[in-house]
Amino acid sequence: MFENISPLTADPILGLMAEFRNDKREKKIDLGVGVYRDDHGNTPIMRAVKEAEKQKLTIESTKSYIGPNGSERYNELIQNMTLGSNHVVIKDRRIATIQTPGGCGALKIGAELIKKVKGNSTVWVSSPTWANHIPLLGGAGLKINDYHYYCPVTKRINKSKMFETLEKASDGDIILVHGCCHNPSGVDLDEEDWKNLTELLARKNLLPFIDLAYQGLGDGLEEDVTGIRKLLSIIPEALVACSYSKNFGLYRERTGGLHVILSSADITNAVSGQLGSIARGIYSMPPAHGAFLVEQILDDGCLKSIWTGELNEMRGRISNLRMKLATELSEATNLDFNFIMNQKGMFSFLGISKEQIDILKNKHAIYMVDSSRINVAGLNSNNLDFFVQGVKAVV
Ligand SMILES: Cc1ncc(COP(=O)(O)O)c(C=O)c1O
Repeated sequence: MFENISPLTADPILGLMAEFRNDKREKKIDLGVGVYRDDHGNTPIMRAVKEAEKQKLTIESTKSYIGPNGSERYNELIQNMTLGSNHVVIKDRRIATIQTPGGCGALKIGAELIKKVKGNSTVWVSSPTWANHIPLLGGAGLKINDYHYYCPVTKRINKSKMFETLEKASDGDIILVHGCCHNPSGVDLDEEDWKNLTELLARKNLLPFIDLAYQGLGDGLEEDVTGIRKLLSIIPEALVACSYSKNFGLYRERTGGLHVILSSADITNAVSGQLGSIARGIYSMPPAHGAFLVEQILDDGCLKSIWTGELNEMRGRISNLRMKLATELSEATNLDFNFIMNQKGMFSFLGISKEQIDILKNKHAIYMVDSSRINVAGLNSNNLDFFVQGVKAVV
């Protein structure tokens, strides 16, 4: 049965990770993998998470099944985290939420729900977008189109082209939007863009599918969702896929959630049932551990303030690194890298060629993916200068 299966070409990021591991040079930098790192190059467990884990050992009383929709309290708490507890959608009970295995699980369940409701739907993704959007959404049978987003010349969003392409979307199409900290470009929508996007979605009857994987790592927990909250107070139907991998550091615990915003509270239960049934047909029930910790943290004032403090530290570190990197690269190379300062989250395109990327890897042991996307958080006080000198040598 399986004898004719052909091997796949290696995933570029996983391939790069393996090459990096096997690199025997003493000083080397990996800016490929998308995980947060502290100044020592570690991806630590957050203190609030450690504390919640200790509490879990005493509180948890059963390992019985959790149910396909996950923990009700967790779902309620993440609704509040995304929308704010006073949001009209929550007050009107026009929201169905399911606990999912990470943001990927949320994107997959959302795609399957769309397919169930309208089989031949088209989803528009930004160009470029996070590579895994394509298999997650396309794999569910949705047709994928892309809309203009990042301009490599200005290092900003090409707004006129973005809205021009979105005008081509047809009634009922789905528009996938990165909530904040756009992966891979680091270039986010501003207040005016969210307003214009909301107007376009309403006028053309398009469905927003918001991927919120970095809440709190851009400008702040509340600031990062201001545009989304306003949009959701106007657009009657939407999906929001949330990941808690980065902002709680729970990568391997697979912790996320999907909100489906509805035009009427009358269908909330029906949609919840459909979400559960989709989950049942894929993995049955979500893993409990990570969600238990998030629930514990968001529900406890003391743990929550420890966690927000740590999240603020992470965000501050990234933003300081962005300032330093932009200044030092610009000074060392006499080129303008100041765009790095204005971008958000962990990623930016350095804007160098594949040839230069190869030299950086082979000659300087500096690893990044072929698009020149770098994980800024992979830099630290021990390797920043080494990185700047490497880039100086190749540009
Ligand atoms: C834009 C984007 N969406 C979703 C995810 C999914 O995250 P998770 O690991 O929680 O599935 C990621 C993770 O890198 C991401 O960058």
